[in-house]
Amino acid sequence: MQGGELTLRPSAARLLESMRDIGYSSESALADIVDNSISAAATEVRIINDLDVDGHPYLAIMDNGRGMCADELTAAMRHGSRSPREAREAGDLGRFGLGMKTASFSQCRRLTVASRVAGRWEARCWDLDHIVEHDEWLLQVLDRDAISRLPALDSFSGNGTMILWQKLDRLDALGPHPDQIYEALNVMFGTARRHLALTFHRFVAPEPSDDLTRVSISINGAVLEALDPFARLMQPQSDPHELERLRMGNGEIVVQAFTLPHHQRLTAAQLQHLELGSSLAETQGLYIYRAKRLISGGTWLGMARRSELSKLLRVRVDVPTSLDAEWSVDVRKSRVWPPAVVRSRLRPLVERMTKNAQRPYTWRGTREARGSGMPLWQRVSERGAIRYEINREHPLVRHAEVRGEDSADLDALLLAIESTLPLDSLFADVGANPHGVQQSSLDAARIEQLLAAFVEAVAPGSDSIPAATAEAILQTPVFAGNPEARALLSRLRRIEP
Ligand SMILES: Nc1ncnc2c1ncn2[C@@H]1O[C@H](COP(=O)(O)OP(=O)(O)OP(=O)(O)O)[C@@H](O)[C@H]1O
Ligand SMILES: [Mg+2]
Repeated sequence: MQGGELTLRPSAARLLESMRDIGYSSESALADIVDNSISAAATEVRIINDLDVDGHPYLAIMDNGRGMCADELTAAMRHGSRSPREAREAGDLGRFGLGMKTASFSQCRRLTVASRVAGRWEARCWDLDHIVEHDEWLLQVLDRDAISRLPALDSFSGNGTMILWQKLDRLDALGPHPDQIYEALNVMFGTARRHLALTFHRFVAPEPSDDLTRVSISINGAVLEALDPFARLMQPQSDPHELERLRMGNGEIVVQAFTLPHHQRLTAAQLQHLELGSSLAETQGLYIYRAKRLISGGTWLGMARRSELSKLLRVRVDVPTSLDAEWSVDVRKSRVWPPAVVRSRLRPLVERMTKNAQRPYTWRGTREARGSGMPLWQRVSERGAIRYEINREHPLVRHAEVRGEDSADLDALLLAIESTLPLDSLFADVGANPHGVQQSSLDAARIEQLLAAFVEAVAPGSDSIPAATAEAILQTPVFAGNPEARALLSRLRRIEP
């Protein structure tokens, strides 16, 4: 056999069918299309679905971006329209020259792109069934007539582009009846809505420092509200930490941590918003943005563990597209992996941040013991509000836990006691008769029972207790005023000198 070279073209039919399954979800596919609109300087992206004249469902993503002329449109339809090695403008969210095609075919079998520049429409179409039939890359060029029959074009005024998905064979539970079709699209849009609101939140509601043009994104006419994981647009706001800049070869990575407002300060709706469809604990971590577009969020990328204590910590990591070669971004723009040098510089930052994050929990508000001796209650003063809590470190509480009572049950009981203190009636009673409200007085048997619980908690199983401990117990208010207490205690335990 002689050596040499063969031109071996891929089978259009088989390659395209296989590429449908590279792992797009419907929401990541939509996001890939919206990327293109934003790269084309669109300020408005409208996503709609409906039935076409033949009763088949379609989905259209329309923008008012710069549009494409005939040659640009033909080039854009080619798989690999641009090389990932090619340098792009800073705000260009594209990289591979693939997204529009791969994202579309992951959801449908017919992709039509219509674009208008200076009042002139051009349209091209890849129809998978047609390609499979001929096993050839046959791009259809639509004539005026065909263009005029496309749905939704009459809603355009200036330049812009429409990506039209037809033959939507990937929708779940898609039945033949319009009701079933609408139902399937509604389910898909439910998830897509949150995903887009989060992925593009910095474009939808730009912060002044981001220097971005506002983009409105709507689904079937309902404009998306930004889903900002850093609560920058919320009252109460998150606490920003100091900005860190990591200089890399071709660019700079900007890292900023935010501590979310404590969940007790949030309304139920705000908390739900920040939980991003999951929980705070599961969505803590790094949020990685490429050119301000969220790629992945809510992970420590193996640099820290998700912990209940750091659940208010979210860290924004801004990566410019000039670092694409070092950061591996996948075609779907839903995964990135920082290079080793970045990881080694991020790790100490993450460690410090997660350690600091534990502070608002351990030192939330100032706590003061109330009463002398071994007080069970604490007065907690936090941000101007005062509440009373049972000290979880108190020997009686500790002892109950150690004795194997279900500590969750016990904690629930204590919480119930704390949170149901009848403050209103207390205030009213004290107001009416300041000296009439008294601690309940216990008879000798009750005092003995309570004393026994205290000594058992501080010195379980022992027959003596240190004198200092005995004094602390006796100074606790319930015992302090009781003349019998000392004698009772010395009957229960020998008091060490
Ligand atoms: N809505 C749009 N408006 C104007 N031009 C567009 C639009 N959508 C796509 N294009 C053009 O089509 C080209 C191909 O888009 P495609 O999404 O396939 O690749 P890409 O955006 O270059 O890279 P990636 O694969 O990373 O998305 C784009 O580079 C852009 O020039
Ligand atoms: Mg793209």
